[in-house]
Amino acid sequence: MQFSAHLLKWYNAKKRDLPWRRTKEPYAIWISEIILQQTRVDQGLPYYERFIQKFPTVYSLANASENEVLKVWQGLGYYSRARNLHHAAKSIVHDYHGIFPRNYDEIINLKGIGSYTAAAISSICFDEPKAVVDGNVFRVLSRFHGIDNPIDSGDGKKIFVALANEVMDKTSPGEYNQAIMEFGALQCKPSAPDCASCYLSAKCHASNTGTVDRFPVKSKTIKQKKRYFNYIMLAGDRGTFYQKRSDKDIWKHMYEPLLIESNKYLAANEILNNRTWLNVFKKEVEPKLVRSETIEHKLTHQTINARFWEASIASDSLSVNSALEEFEEGELLDIPIPRLIEKYLEQRRGNKENNKPNLYS
Ligand code: ADE
Repeated sequence: MQFSAHLLKWYNAKKRDLPWRRTKEPYAIWISEIILQQTRVDQGLPYYERFIQKFPTVYSLANASENEVLKVWQGLGYYSRARNLHHAAKSIVHDYHGIFPRNYDEIINLKGIGSYTAAAISSICFDEPKAVVDGNVFRVLSRFHGIDNPIDSGDGKKIFVALANEVMDKTSPGEYNQAIMEFGALQCKPSAPDCASCYLSAKCHASNTGTVDRFPVKSKTIKQKKRYFNYIMLAGDRGTFYQKRSDKDIWKHMYEPLLIESNKYLAANEILNNRTWLNVFKKEVEPKLVRSETIEHKLTHQTINARFWEASIASDSLSVNSALEEFEEGELLDIPIPRLIEKYLEQRRGNKENNKPNLYS
């Protein structure tokens, strides 16, 4: 039996029953594939269900506000993906009369859709024989065929794309693509795969040579950047002050408290003398800064070390140049905030409920 026939047999026996596997509707497949690019199925599932419930059609997504779209995405990370979904939904409505384009070459022109997503949608919804190549596919193909070209090099990628298209089952490309990804997720897992129970192990290079943990090969190790965020939660007369993040950095258009980024954590007096702090207020304001939690938040290429401070201010002490806006407790439910800020709010709530004394300086 061929590689692809084994995979399809395995998939029919073992696949998970998931909502996006009960449809070929391109809008639903598109949303599921964008969510699954950044998260595992079990974590992505509730996001998918919430997203489809809130925006059941491409029209409802196109007509939503950016805040609403980011809010549904809150906690998933990679917020540019949500903004791109929104942008592409508007193009589908305006340029395609609301009908999802039906082939790879048109689909790939939509914002935020690269070769992976275009292959997934065109194969699953329209039976176009385009092989997907994601982390699962790199792992399965490199192990089975013993390919040690680095997956993060241009040449390596070309080899894998060519092989993926060569070995795919062209009569059921959508099933095949899902089968290889599902196989990577459940059977040929990144660490400690269960080769003893594997349908493919008899012909698998890595299994037969005891080298499963050497594949796939990567040439570079990603350097993690370390950043220090000093967040000051300013409580005003009505609520708390947040500002919308601007372009060219993580969390674009999400909301956060006053931020002073630095090379190391700042002490209270350093915050009060910092230019950002001074620019926020009309005149010199020196409230008591109460030190709160410190949270380490890991992203793909950077680690954010965040320290939170709390202070009370008069709402009218802010300068007109400040981007801070005051939000009442209930209003905070509608604005998108990064997971890091959400974590802090949860920890703070937990501390209050447990009556934990503050550890503040
Ligand atoms: N990972 C991403 N998309 C997938 C799909 N359609 N099936 C299985 N795993 C996936």
